[in-house]
Amino acid sequence: MKLDRRITNLIITGFSGTGKSLVAKEVARGLNWDFLDTDDEIVKQTGKPIAEIFRQDGEARFRELERETIRKACQQKHTVIAIGGGAIVDPQNYELLAKTGLIVCLEAKPETIYERLFREAAHSPETEVRPLLANDNPLERIKQLKASRQPYYDNVDWTVHSDNLNVSQVAEEVIRAWRLLRLAHPHLNPLPSRERKLGSQLEANDDVACLVETATQGYPVFVGYGLLDKLGEKMKQAALSGTATVISDENVFSLYGSKVAGILKDAGFAVNSFVVPPGEETKSMDYVIKIYDFLVEHRVERDDIIIALGGGMVGDLAGFIAATFLRGMPWIQVPTSLVSMVDASIGGKVGINHPEGKNLIGAFYQPNLVLADCQTLATLPQRELTSGWAEVIKHSMILDKEFVRFLESNVNKLTKLEPELLTRAIARSAAIKSQVVSQDEKEREGKRTILNYGHTIAHGLETATRYKRFLHGEAVAIGMAGAAKLGQRLGLLPSAAVERQQALLQKFDLPTGFSGLDLTEITRAMELDKKTKERAIRWVLLQDIGKVIIRSDVPQDDVLAVIRELAEQ
Ligand SMILES: NC(=O)c1ccc[n+]([C@@H]2O[C@H](COP(=O)([O-])OP(=O)(O)OC[C@H]3O[C@@H](n4cnc5c(N)ncnc54)[C@H](O)[C@@H]3O)[C@@H](O)[C@H]2O)c1
Ligand SMILES: [Zn+2]
Repeated sequence: MKLDRRITNLIITGFSGTGKSLVAKEVARGLNWDFLDTDDEIVKQTGKPIAEIFRQDGEARFRELERETIRKACQQKHTVIAIGGGAIVDPQNYELLAKTGLIVCLEAKPETIYERLFREAAHSPETEVRPLLANDNPLERIKQLKASRQPYYDNVDWTVHSDNLNVSQVAEEVIRAWRLLRLAHPHLNPLPSRERKLGSQLEANDDVACLVETATQGYPVFVGYGLLDKLGEKMKQAALSGTATVISDENVFSLYGSKVAGILKDAGFAVNSFVVPPGEETKSMDYVIKIYDFLVEHRVERDDIIIALGGGMVGDLAGFIAATFLRGMPWIQVPTSLVSMVDASIGGKVGINHPEGKNLIGAFYQPNLVLADCQTLATLPQRELTSGWAEVIKHSMILDKEFVRFLESNVNKLTKLEPELLTRAIARSAAIKSQVVSQDEKEREGKRTILNYGHTIAHGLETATRYKRFLHGEAVAIGMAGAAKLGQRLGLLPSAAVERQQALLQKFDLPTGFSGLDLTEITRAMELDKKTKERAIRWVLLQDIGKVIIRSDVPQDDVLAVIRELAEQ
């Protein structure tokens, strides 16, 4: 079958006992899609178990009902559909399903199927698969029936052998296949992007700013004003349930803790909370252990949920807990600082600091969803807010000229947190970050490197001042000013563009230079920077506004000259 069609659904087929329904449910959960089982639909519609329909009305009637159910199911979008084991044999069904669905067959050897059905039957004597077993030689019957259907099972887009895998492993394989095929055949994706592009109106009922789609997890990033109220609803839509443990810092929890707890309780979640002191020192093993103890004491289980309510510090810490406790739990990012809304909450980097270095211990572990309520920025201290704009400007400078224009024309309203424009700016910035991390989840392919624009000098400044003098965004602003000047020196970037960036940073009240620092300490720190590969620094530079280039051949002298220039300001 050629993959020349647009896919709106995933179809899971296979013989009885291959776990179609459970797998489809798990896949839907992983992709944040809907789930539908055609057999269940038929049972719902007729009020009778499948076996009874066979017995009372005959197979022909069942196939008729099945055809009708499949026809309806094919009108869905973003749905994982489990179909009955015989459905695909019908050419009409096959044609309908194949038109817009990617068909995945779950395979298993007859012996495995026999064993699974036998076990299942033993556990629930009423199960409808019993007819398959109710004959003299059930294994032989399975072999025969399966062989007769095999040509149809072979005529699918992808096959997963399930003999030696459990349900979630099979589901992972299906998701992996979907992502792999989408990478290889980009046209497969029916909705080119749910990103809310700048300039397009805010759709009143659609708060999805973007989707992050990495190899391990796809999840939505919701951005909106006053969106906190919908947290419980969004979590339920993501098929989450159970106990939610809210991890937050004292500042944020005192402002939003009880509101969030109330929203979660109203949505039917049990709620725990663990509140830590604010500040970077809290992102440590000491607090990780305290939180583990709390979770153990409260008997938190694998399907329960961790909620990170706060800035990037809380997000990194809570995410690290979610990644490691019980080998991984579902978790939600509820970023409340500008830095975390547009940067830290997206991309799944979680971790804590080691006394010898920041973020030395961690993992890549994607959340199930991100929900950013821009209204919470009203209480963020001014300096933190300003610092956050540096990352927004960074995203615009590296990838989106139009967004630069948008920021330039709306500075005043944005810094005053005008709801609609603020929401648009955050949504766009978050979408840029999502787009980059979706292409390079684990920072292996170098595509994520472009996010380090302005960060080489920034890390030099932060290290030289032991992270005490600058907020991260402030250091990044100076770093971007430096990177632009460096680009200019290398003949890559016209001076007008350098000035344009300079002006934008300053309009947002961000620094573009520094004074009173020992320059050698900065350069030494830069050479020790962890993003340095074999001593050649990979510089992320601009070729134009909205266009980056990576260079590893930048002469030291030029770097020194630029740093001297920054120090004179
Ligand atoms: N994982 C990533 O990809 C990533 C990316 C960037 C930064 N980070 C990490 O994020 C952290 C920095 O994030 P940050 O700037 O959000 O710092 P932060 O979490 O320390 O928050 C800054 C301050 O603002 C307060 N605050 C947050 N939201 C508030 C609100 N709505 N109202 C009032 N006060 C509020 C916090 O209590 C804190 O005092 C660092 O630890 C950094 O390493 C991670
Ligand atoms: Zn940064």
